[in-house]
Amino acid sequence: MANVVKGEQLYEGKAKKVYATNDPDLVIVDYKDDATAFNGEKKGTIVGKGVINNRMTNFMFKKLEAAGVPTHLVEELSDRETLVKKVSIVPLEVIIRNVAAGSFSKRMGVPEGKELLTPILEFSYKNDDLGDPFINDYYALALGLATKEELDTIAKYAFAVNSFMVDFFKGVGVDLIDFKIEFGKTSDGTIILADEISPDTCRFWDSKTHEKLDKDRFRRDMGGVEDAYQEMMKRVLGE
Ligand code: TMP
Repeated sequence: MANVVKGEQLYEGKAKKVYATNDPDLVIVDYKDDATAFNGEKKGTIVGKGVINNRMTNFMFKKLEAAGVPTHLVEELSDRETLVKKVSIVPLEVIIRNVAAGSFSKRMGVPEGKELLTPILEFSYKNDDLGDPFINDYYALALGLATKEELDTIAKYAFAVNSFMVDFFKGVGVDLIDFKIEFGKTSDGTIILADEISPDTCRFWDSKTHEKLDKDRFRRDMGGVEDAYQEMMKRVLGE
């Protein structure tokens, strides 16, 4: 890491901390083992999660960069820390669904596991006080959360992420049911993929057994949470 010095903590979220550096365009993210669900109501620890999420995110972001999706990744610094471009996060949770599960199944009365005829792109307004409400493009535009051009770019990148990841995970025996990603804007206004891609933010089901290999094991008190994260780490990174 050429000449980057870790500075003061700028922010602490539910799963990560963010630190300033001596370069105003770069920050360091530090992944914690803390886990929450239901907007922070349920709290716990998933031992080793921070390391797995850091390493898996960076692995996926490198692949996605090569597939034409720009990301905030600069350099992995340690097991839990990564140097990234400083962005302002677009306050949208961008969700893609390939198979019915979770809040979609509840809202629509469609059983979990039912394959969707076409992938769904869905937005939530990223606002903890409101519990991240479901919104559509018109809400985002009307509230000034993003411009039309930004929404078009986000949709294009989100579907590119989905195409790449569905194939990648199929190759390691995992069905990508759905996932959540976030985008940021650099100081010059460029939209890039930020945040993380991990078992915290994706639903991964074993292709053969349909066993859940993601944070639903924590959300739903299913047990075997750490083993599921380790299994995903092994399948993705081979260790
Ligand atoms: P949902 O079915 O609960 O709406 O979740 C859709 C996807 O988004 C799923 O892969 C889990 C992920 N997700 C997050 O990353 N953060 C969240 O706060 C929530 C609610 C879901």
